[in-house]
Amino acid sequence: MDKYYKIRLASLHPYTPITFDLYVLINQKYVLYMRAGAAFEGDKLEHLLNRRADVFYIRYEEKDAYKKYVKARVDDTKLKAEEKALILKEHSFTLVEELFENPKVDEALEESKELISNFISFIDAEPTAVGGLIGLSSHDFYTYNHSLDVCIYSLGLGQKSGITNKDELSDLGRGALFHDLGKRKVPVEIICKQGTLDEAEWAQMKRHPLYGLQILNEFPNISDAIKACCFEHHENHTGNGYPQGIKGNEIHPMARIVAITDTYDALTTKRSYNVPMSPQDALTLMKEKLAGRFDPDLLKAMYSVLFKM
Ligand SMILES: [Fe+2]
Ligand SMILES: [Fe+2]
Repeated sequence: MDKYYKIRLASLHPYTPITFDLYVLINQKYVLYMRAGAAFEGDKLEHLLNRRADVFYIRYEEKDAYKKYVKARVDDTKLKAEEKALILKEHSFTLVEELFENPKVDEALEESKELISNFISFIDAEPTAVGGLIGLSSHDFYTYNHSLDVCIYSLGLGQKSGITNKDELSDLGRGALFHDLGKRKVPVEIICKQGTLDEAEWAQMKRHPLYGLQILNEFPNISDAIKACCFEHHENHTGNGYPQGIKGNEIHPMARIVAITDTYDALTTKRSYNVPMSPQDALTLMKEKLAGRFDPDLLKAMYSVLFKM
């Protein structure tokens, strides 16, 4: 039987003919919707998106054709930066979904290299469009969105703070993408609970950095930087964080970056039970009320990342 790969409609560009067959899933059956060579004319694509008909499928063997299609759009000089950002983000979203479902974490980390390098090239080519990559999706899957946003912000902040080496940026991007990996081992009722956690639940939740490290340690050849992003992203500049309570320079520089982008994203993202803060308010809160939690130089650099966007 054919295997199918899920894609998001918003990762396609209207008017540009598709290079693969597009299917819809109806009553457990994949039904051909549009053939390779055809395009969404007029406002058809927008119309479907407005009806929230966002999920389509392609045959697995055409996944490379789809990836090439996305890459060509992102490299297309005729498209606006915002259009490219949306296509790249929507494309990455399904990849992240797939990566996070893969129990072989080393494989997932390896596969995510391509995704991270797409982001790095995009940020290089369109330095002012980084903000356009964030929060575009209206999907309700908080973990995927959160992880992807933390990854993008971290790449921006990493570059701003002087990391220029592509391999180091790749480690940072992947460490950021997988920073909450350990939440796989926390019961889903706790992860999805609306409102505040009780003491026992909170204690469980606080184990996720350690769980993350344990999962990564099951595989050989995973870099210290990636491990540190998982294990140290809740450490705190003055030493009041968890799980180790280490401080300042004892915390890996990349984990210090993720600590900032993680909190920032949580404050500015709408979840069912909170009102999102504006970028300015979130940074002010992090600087004043949460003073001491973050590396002050990096926090300063975060301002220039966000306001050059
Ligand atoms: Fe976390
Ligand atoms: Fe997080």
